[in-house]
Amino acid sequence: MSKLFSAFMLGKLELKNRFVRSATTSYWSDEQGILTDPILDYYEQLAKGDIGLIIKGHSYITEKGKAHTGQSGLIDEKHIPRMMELTKMVHEYGSKIIAQLNHGGATSSADRATASVHKTENWESRELSVEDINNIVEDFGQAADNAIKAGFDGVQIHGAHGYLVSQFLSDIVNKREDDYGGTLEKRARLLFDIYDKIRSKLGLDAIIGIKLNCDDFAPENGFGISDSIQVAKWLSDRGIDFIEISGGGFQQKPEIRKTRGRAEEASGYNEATWGEHARKIRDAVPKLPLILVDGIRSRSTMNNLLDNKIVDLISMSKPFINEPDFVKLLKSGQEKASCIDCRKCISREYFGKTMLRCFHRFP
Ligand SMILES: Cc1cc2nc3c(=O)[nH]c(=O)nc-3n(C[C@H](O)[C@H](O)[C@H](O)COP(=O)(O)O)c2cc1C
Repeated sequence: MSKLFSAFMLGKLELKNRFVRSATTSYWSDEQGILTDPILDYYEQLAKGDIGLIIKGHSYITEKGKAHTGQSGLIDEKHIPRMMELTKMVHEYGSKIIAQLNHGGATSSADRATASVHKTENWESRELSVEDINNIVEDFGQAADNAIKAGFDGVQIHGAHGYLVSQFLSDIVNKREDDYGGTLEKRARLLFDIYDKIRSKLGLDAIIGIKLNCDDFAPENGFGISDSIQVAKWLSDRGIDFIEISGGGFQQKPEIRKTRGRAEEASGYNEATWGEHARKIRDAVPKLPLILVDGIRSRSTMNNLLDNKIVDLISMSKPFINEPDFVKLLKSGQEKASCIDCRKCISREYFGKTMLRCFHRFP
């Protein structure tokens, strides 16, 4: 019997099946970061589609950390009513929903600031002071509080994809010599401070997770699999409720991303971009609920990931842009997502110009 449609307890939260919609931003919140009708309509399609756990697209925790126009915010009272409409609607369909909290750091559109001064061809970021860091930690705590007030079932810290937390973890970006830089433990201090702040605000029963890179996929240095394993162990010891394993940070190279960490074909799950990295993390934290995202498209891969206990939950983003009812389609016998990874949904040409849509299917 496939576990895919069986329930799963994530802490005290019962999920009706093993499917997760990975956080997917739409660029469609208004200029104040408040959700608009098309966003609610899209989430209604997802919830109708029977997804066990929906992770909402990233929300900024301070104006300064806003990553792009149209991003949703969770910074104060004004953001709560529409978020509440969203969570209420999702719950009516029996799905659960978690808020993803993020700070863009050096990639922020408002104030490029990160662990250290960082220069690229196109921009330079300033270095955050310890006072700035303390304020950011407070802001994560406040945003988590707002998320729970708005009815979310928990929060996910965005610790992946080269945003602020991922920048601090990377020794390519983080050159600090104080308590927030140097050794891996010190580079992880911002993350631990954020986690501890949220836990102290929300209490022991709250669901707090992270999206964490298994690897930045940079040619040299950066945050790699052995760092990820160590951070996963530390977070598990601290009491985190889940890790969603992702990848890709500063100086990542697409060809390295495609190959390093990919499982052998014989594993039955090499469609997942970094299944082998996930297996290593699983070995290090055998009891912690793990979620895997990226590249997963077919029923056989999903079953093999669950049957081999690599992860507990299967996460996808682009397949649900193409087919918000993909879980139902799988249930009725479809073997594979129709998404062909053309990436038009995230291309400069289309992204943000209309609400999330598969432009291959609906040109
Ligand atoms: C349109 C779009 C928006 C995204 N927004 C977010 C986001 O807000 N937060 C995040 O962690 N990842 C975001 N992602 C990345 C996805 O969550 C996911 O990690 C990635 O697409 C790989 O999964 P897939 O192969 O199933 O699409 C986004 C991806 C897409 C296509």
